[in-house]
Amino acid sequence: MPQLQAPLGIRGMRLRNRIVMLPMYPFSFHGDDGGFFGAMHRDHYIRRAEGGAGLVIAQAVNVLGVLDGTGTWSKGDRKFLADIAAGCRREGAAAMLQLAAGDFEIHDLDAADIARIQRSLEAAAAAARDLGFDGVEFHFAHGYTLCKFLDAGYNTRTDAFGGDLENRARILVDLLPRIRDRVGEQFVLAVRMGVDMPAANDGEAAAAYLARSGIDLLDISFGLRKPAARDMPESFPGSPVVWSGVKIQRLAGVPTIVGNGVLTGELARTLAEDHGAELIGIGRSMFTDPDFALRAVGGSAVNACRDCPDCRWFTDHTRCPGLATRLSG
Ligand SMILES: Cc1cc2nc3c(=O)[nH]c(=O)nc-3n(C[C@H](O)[C@H](O)[C@H](O)COP(=O)(O)O)c2cc1C
Repeated sequence: MPQLQAPLGIRGMRLRNRIVMLPMYPFSFHGDDGGFFGAMHRDHYIRRAEGGAGLVIAQAVNVLGVLDGTGTWSKGDRKFLADIAAGCRREGAAAMLQLAAGDFEIHDLDAADIARIQRSLEAAAAAARDLGFDGVEFHFAHGYTLCKFLDAGYNTRTDAFGGDLENRARILVDLLPRIRDRVGEQFVLAVRMGVDMPAANDGEAAAAYLARSGIDLLDISFGLRKPAARDMPESFPGSPVVWSGVKIQRLAGVPTIVGNGVLTGELARTLAEDHGAELIGIGRSMFTDPDFALRAVGGSAVNACRDCPDCRWFTDHTRCPGLATRLSG
């Protein structure tokens, strides 16, 4: 069973431990110089790297805009993204960027729209490599555009992008050889996806197919709906996403991040050491404790997220009660 402090290599990326900062969009942060990203974002990510994270996955950025250098792909924003990648690496963490394709109604997209999304996905992966990131994570989770394509229950398209699994994953899988050519052998290509797509066996099949198609790393979360995990024993200490994620990890055969509700260092250690989770994804507790990784790996208490029903980081992070220190677990 992996120990939290065990290093791991994935292509050219070296992780000093098994703690991953999950991608999270800090909605109340603002950019500098009229841009989207700024010093707030830069300092936030570099601080979590300094706090010992093995891997920092920076928040979702929309790939649309990369072709003409607009949105988060403007020159000013790219500078901050490059600073995030370089700063995390200087602090000893690996750094990846999450790439999302907006929130389109997929049945309204025509062939030209899909081709533009595909060109943007490819260009954004290459741009992230040029900015200094170790890899990218394609966002196929949480009900956004790419998630809708992959979900067997949602995607009722009758063209080459709907129907069987090969078609539902085509929006990315067809690009993988070209992306690999552009980014080189060292760069990590990851997918974040849901456990149920819509049922658990669809999620398992999709994960295995993506791994076979050249995806190096999976990050397991929820898809369009709350996972059922009907086979989860009552004694399992983690959430249904984590339970199903560990099962997916076993059959996908590539390194897999499992996260969702891992708020304490104690739970992170238990999942790694007693349940075989290879990489533990930490979301909100990275907000409340930038030193989460150092503390969890070192076996000391963390300042855990208070698990508010309405996370303040969606509206005004300065009102997060977890920012007041109270060490636990
Ligand atoms: C404020 C906020 C922003 C988030 N932004 C993203 C995002 O950009 N991409 C993503 O895949 N998940 C995002 N998430 C989901 C987290 O990555 C994570 O899956 C979720 O918070 C559950 O993990 P946790 O219980 O450790 O917090 C966000 C969550 C929060 C609270």
